[in-house]
Amino acid sequence: MRIPLSNPDITNLERKEILKVLKTPYLALGPKLKEFEKKIAQYIGTKYAVAVNSGTSGLHLLIQALGIKKGDEVITTPFSFIASANCILYEGARPIFVDIDPSTLNIDPDKIEKAITKKTKAMVIVDVFGHPADWDQILKIAKKYKLKIIEDSCEAIGAQYYSKIKRKWIKCGNFGQAAIFSFYPNKQITTGEGGIIVTNNKKIAEICQSMANQGRKIKNSQWLEHIRLGYNYRMSELQAALGLAQISRINEILKKREKVAKIYNKYLAEIPEIKIPYTASWAKISWFVYVIQLSKKYHRKDRDQIINNLKKAGIQCSNYFQSIHLQPLYKKLFNYKRGSFPIAESISDRTIALPFYNSLTETKIKYIVKKLKQFLIKK
Ligand SMILES: Cc1ncc(COP(=O)(O)O)c(C=O)c1O
Repeated sequence: MRIPLSNPDITNLERKEILKVLKTPYLALGPKLKEFEKKIAQYIGTKYAVAVNSGTSGLHLLIQALGIKKGDEVITTPFSFIASANCILYEGARPIFVDIDPSTLNIDPDKIEKAITKKTKAMVIVDVFGHPADWDQILKIAKKYKLKIIEDSCEAIGAQYYSKIKRKWIKCGNFGQAAIFSFYPNKQITTGEGGIIVTNNKKIAEICQSMANQGRKIKNSQWLEHIRLGYNYRMSELQAALGLAQISRINEILKKREKVAKIYNKYLAEIPEIKIPYTASWAKISWFVYVIQLSKKYHRKDRDQIINNLKKAGIQCSNYFQSIHLQPLYKKLFNYKRGSFPIAESISDRTIALPFYNSLTETKIKYIVKKLKQFLIKK
C-alpha cells in the first residue's frame, strides 16, 4: 500500500475544459483567464482578481505594489511556508518574525506591538493550514500604527472568520490591502502551478496585472511598450481552464475535505499522545492539510523516526512546517538560533502532516491510524 500525502481531485470536467482550450488558438492571455479572475473575485467577494503563475509570484507583486523596499521592516510569522517571508527579502526589506499562538498556529496578535519599530511598514499575515488568523485584533493594530497588510491566504481558500466588530462571517482574502491564494497541486483547488491576487483596491490590481505581464499598460497596450519593471508571472489559458472547473466544484471539494478531517478526528481524538487540529470558535477552516501534534514529551528526533517508520509502511507524511527562522538561509542571513521563537520551534518539532486528500477512504485512514499507534514510541 502506498498512500500519498496529497492528491488533486481532477474529474472529466477538468479534462474536458482543458481539451476545449487546446482546440482554440488562445493558449495564453485569452478569455479563460478573464473568466477565471471574475469567478474568483465573485467567490471571495472582492472587486478585483489578478491571476498569476504561483502564490510566490503573487506575494512578490504585492510587496512591490505596496511600495515595500530596502530598509523597511515587515512583520510576519515564522511558522509558514518559506515564500511568505522570502517575498519580503526579494525587495531588500527585512522580515520581522513574531511568535505564534499555540492553538491556532497563526501569528499571536498579542505579541505584534512589541515588534513594531519606526521602520515597520507592513505585515504579511498567513492563514496557516486553512485556519484564519485573528483578524479583528490584527486589523486594530494595523490601523493604530498605519501598517499595510498582505493576507497570505495561499492555504485558506474558502475559510471564514467571524468578526466580532462587524458581527458577520467574512471569507479569508478580504482582510488587508490585498490577499493571495495558491493553486499548487496540494492546495484545495489547483491549476497545476498558479495563484491569484484579490483586492478591492483598483490601483493595486492594475499595478499587479501590469507587473505580471512584463510591465505593459493595462489598457490600449502596445505589445512591445513597457511602462514599468515587470515580470512574466502570467497564468496560461490551460491553467485558467483547469481553475474554472475546480472553482465550479469548490463547495463539493471543501465538503469532501471536511469529511476526511472528521474521520481522522474520530480515530485520533482519544489518543493521549496526539493533539488533533484545533478550530477556534470564530473560525471555519478550509481544510488544506491534516496536521497532528505529538505531545510535549516527544522530541524532534522521535517525531522524525515516526515519520520515517510511516514512510516505510507506505504512508507519505511530512514535518509541516520547519520554522522559517531556523532554515539555513535565515540562520545565515540573520544569525537566528534556537530559542528565538520558542512556540513556533516547539510545535515545528512535533508536527506530522498525515495523508490528506478528497478521495482518502475510511479504510485507509484506519490503516494510517493503526500504523501511527504502532510507531508512537512509548515514552
Ligand atoms: C502559506 C503559503 N504561502 C505561499 C505559498 C507559495 O505558493 P506557491 O507554491 O504557489 O508559490 C504557499 C504554498 O505552498 C503557502 O503555503
